[in-house]
Amino acid sequence: MRNSQSTLTLSIIGFGAVGQGVATIVQNAPHIKVVAIADSKGVALMPDLNDVLARKRGGQPIANSNLTALDVIRTIDHDVVVEVTPTNIHGGEPGLTHVREALKNKRNVVTSNKGPLVAAFDELTQLAYTNGVALRYEATVGGAMPIVNLIRDTLAGARVLDIRGVLNGTCNYILTRMAEEALDYDQVLSEAQDMGIAEADPTYDVAGIDTACKVVILANAFFGRHATFADVDVTGIDRITQDALQLARQRGFAVKLVGDVQELTVSPKLIPIAHPLNVSGTLNAASILTDTAGEITVAGKGAGSIETASAILSDVLSLKRDRS
Ligand code: HSE
Repeated sequence: MRNSQSTLTLSIIGFGAVGQGVATIVQNAPHIKVVAIADSKGVALMPDLNDVLARKRGGQPIANSNLTALDVIRTIDHDVVVEVTPTNIHGGEPGLTHVREALKNKRNVVTSNKGPLVAAFDELTQLAYTNGVALRYEATVGGAMPIVNLIRDTLAGARVLDIRGVLNGTCNYILTRMAEEALDYDQVLSEAQDMGIAEADPTYDVAGIDTACKVVILANAFFGRHATFADVDVTGIDRITQDALQLARQRGFAVKLVGDVQELTVSPKLIPIAHPLNVSGTLNAASILTDTAGEITVAGKGAGSIETASAILSDVLSLKRDRS
């Protein structure tokens, strides 16, 4: 990359909800140019963003070339690969190959895709280091809620002792509505699916798998744990009963699915009603326990197209700042 005012060039690999969110918000970002967009069917080169967004929404193909996503990553000269294909926790593909190839070709990577980081965190961070490029992943944990860069940059002067988080919006929505409105599990799960925040397979949410992936990423990033998914002890919310939630409520507690990063656990926990981790609806929250700064709790939107894209843009803009 050249100086801070020159244009930063991006490819967007994956054009689902998050990829479309990125295309929407970078339209108004100065000095950022999207050179290619890949969806599962093909590649649009030098896309007109309005046009490809309209095509995608209308169910029309976006491709205007014979290239594949890997061709773009390997052969088109650009600064940043935005890898936003869907998370696959079984081996991380196709995202893992995309991220690996981008780093090997000395392209910076910004991603919301948990799969590659859960499958190969150490390998990918090492690959970024040896190739002199950045791998940024704020959007993988907590969507728009700042946590990765908050700990890495803003809290750099403190030692982080533990992170405990409500890191899955779908589970939080289900638990909140069940507890506050005495609704049943299946009804609220299907509402969460309609809202578009649940994973394509909602078992990833309710069985605690998505939260466990986020725990793995934070454990590797901040505690050097070399952890993978298999290291996390996971209990989901799929067996929580209405009675258990009401009993907790009467005693001044809310039940939340909590990921504990030091413990490498994910399980439903009783959180005092007045505790800042007791956020409602689709919100995420994380309490960061530090040696010198005490406990810091953040909360925010953990999912959503534009919300997740905002975290990606923040990583892209930080690369732009770094190059000056
Ligand atoms: N399905 C996830 C959630 C999306 O409900 O929080 C963000 O990882």
